[in-house]
Amino acid sequence: MKKNHLLAIAMTVALGSLSFSANTFAEPSSPKLNEYVDWRVLSVSHRNDKNTLRAILGNDIAIKASRENKTKPWPEGSIIAKVVWKERTHPNWGAAIVPAEFSAAEAMIKDSKKYASTGGWGYGHWVNGKLEMHPEAKAKTCYGCHQPMKDNDYVYTFSAPMKAKK
Ligand code: HEC
Repeated sequence: MKKNHLLAIAMTVALGSLSFSANTFAEPSSPKLNEYVDWRVLSVSHRNDKNTLRAILGNDIAIKASRENKTKPWPEGSIIAKVVWKERTHPNWGAAIVPAEFSAAEAMIKDSKKYASTGGWGYGHWVNGKLEMHPEAKAKTCYGCHQPMKDNDYVYTFSAPMKAKK
């Protein structure tokens, strides 16, 4: 992980970007983790068996990897947030499905050493905006259902294209 960090710092400096901040390397104990509401979009999904809409968001590391199509595997320190809302029909447009009340925000954190027993991902959720990681036994149930995506580093989400193909 250290190596990746150094590489990322070197690249950031090389690009002359001013966007570097401690936020980029947030560790699970960091209060920055509680700011998932401001993270950028990786994708969206709709579960028609559960009547819910989801936004899949990423921290800076995950977003960078996604935009560069380097997600096999996702880099160490990637955090993916899944924010879930009940769905409702838009009151002024019957064909539009929009979010209703907030339902849950779940997390996957890439740390291959710490979470080796669950495929290199820690599983957790935000409770009142604070990230709580699940104990290993519960994380194993999450991991179990993410098994079909083994070849995609256990991640169901396909990063949504952000522009039309040329
Ligand atoms: C019964 C199967 C199942 C279980 C159990 C499950 N997941 Fe998932 N998970 C999915 C599916 C399917 C998706 C993709 C569809 C979607 O966006 O909801 C997904 C997506 C996610 C995502 C977005 C990243 C990705 O892989 O696409 C996160 C984060 C996530 N799950 C966290 C969890 C956590 C935390 C647990 C355990 C508390 C868990 N999941 C348990 C099926 C499951």
